[in-house]
Amino acid sequence: MMKAAITGVHGYVPDYILTNAELERMVDTNDEWITSRTGIKERHILKGEGMGSSHMGAEAVRGLLAKTNTAPEDIDLLICATVTPDYVFPATANLICDMVGIRNVGSFDIQAACSGFLYALTVGTQFIESGKYKKVIVVGADKMSAITDYTDRTTCVLFGDGAGAVLLEAAEEGLGILDSIIRSDGVGQYHLFQKAGGSRYPPSHETVEKRWHYVYQDGPSVFKFAVKNMADVSAEIMQRNGLAGDDVAWLVPHQANKRIIDATANRMGIGSDKVMLNIHKYGNTTAATIPLCLFDYESQLTKGDNLVLAAFGGGFTWGAVYVKWAY
Ligand code: UT7
Repeated sequence: MMKAAITGVHGYVPDYILTNAELERMVDTNDEWITSRTGIKERHILKGEGMGSSHMGAEAVRGLLAKTNTAPEDIDLLICATVTPDYVFPATANLICDMVGIRNVGSFDIQAACSGFLYALTVGTQFIESGKYKKVIVVGADKMSAITDYTDRTTCVLFGDGAGAVLLEAAEEGLGILDSIIRSDGVGQYHLFQKAGGSRYPPSHETVEKRWHYVYQDGPSVFKFAVKNMADVSAEIMQRNGLAGDDVAWLVPHQANKRIIDATANRMGIGSDKVMLNIHKYGNTTAATIPLCLFDYESQLTKGDNLVLAAFGGGFTWGAVYVKWAY
C-alpha cells in the first residue's frame, strides 16, 4: 500500500520570551519549583492586537513552502490542529490558506487538545495513502496565552505560543508514516478544559467574572492519566511493529511535563539522548509541540530513522505514530 511521508518541516515561535523570573513577579511561584516540577525555563508569547494562532501557523507554512520549494498552488489540502482558533468559525485552516496564498482547496481544523497534531497527521495521512491527494500540509498552532489565566500559578507557568507545519507526500518504499494509534476517553472532560465560550456556556458577564474562559486543569489527575496512557500507547505501537528500545532512534513526545516524558522513555527502554526535548524553551504549546520538536531536531535526523511520536491531552485524547524518517 502507498504510504505517506513527512517531506519537510518548519516551525515558528513569536519573539517575546516570558521567563520564569518574570512569572515570579506575576504570581507566587519560583524558578526552582517550575524547573523541577515541569522542566520549563521560558516560553514564547504572541503579542499584538488582533494576532491569533493563524499568524503563527501561516509563518510556519510560509517557511515550509519556501524550504521545500513548493508553490502554494501545488497544495491539495491543509489541516490545522488547534484549541485556540482565531474564531469559533471560520476555521483557522481557512485563514492560514488565505494568508499564504493557498486557494480553492479544502482546509479544516481538527481539535484534539494536546494530541491534536497526531490526530491531524493521522487524518492527513489517509488522503495520501488513498491516492486522492499528492501534497497535504498539517499544521499545529496554538496561542495558549489567549486562554491562560495569568493569576493562576498552577497553569500560567505551563503554556506558551507557537506553530509547526509538515508537508506530506507519497513515500518511497519502506519509509514514511507506517502506523498510528489515536484514542480518546471522555472521562477526562472535567479535568482539563475551557468551560465557557462554547454552546454549553456561551460567553456572558457571568462566565467572564467566573474566569471560565481560561484553561482549567486538575494537574495531578491529568498527570496520572498522562503518564500511564502515553507510556502504554508508545509501548503498544512499538510492540505491534516489532520495535525494541534499541530500534528507536527518537522519541518525539508532546511537551507537557519533563517528568511525563521521562516516564514514557523509561517504559520504552530508550535513553534520554534519544528523546527530543524543547519544553525548557517553549513550555507546552499544545498542538505545536511535536512539529516544533521535529523542526528543532531536523538536522539530526537521518533517512530510515525510526521515530515514535506520542501525545496525551485534554479530552482525554492520546496517541502514537510510528514514522520511518524519509529524508
Ligand atoms: O498537555 C496536556 C496534558 N497536561 C499535562 O500533561 C499536565 C499534567 N500535570 C502536570 O504536569 C503536573 O500535575 C503539574 C506540573 C501541573 C503540577 O505538578 P504537581 O507535581 O502535580 O504539583 P501539584 O499540583 O500537586 O502541586 C504541588 C504543590 C501544591 O502546594 P501544596 O498543596 O502542596 O501546598 C501547589 O499549590 O505545588 C503548589 N504549586 C506551585 N508552587 C509554586 C502549584 N503550582 C505552583 C507554582 N509555583 N507555579
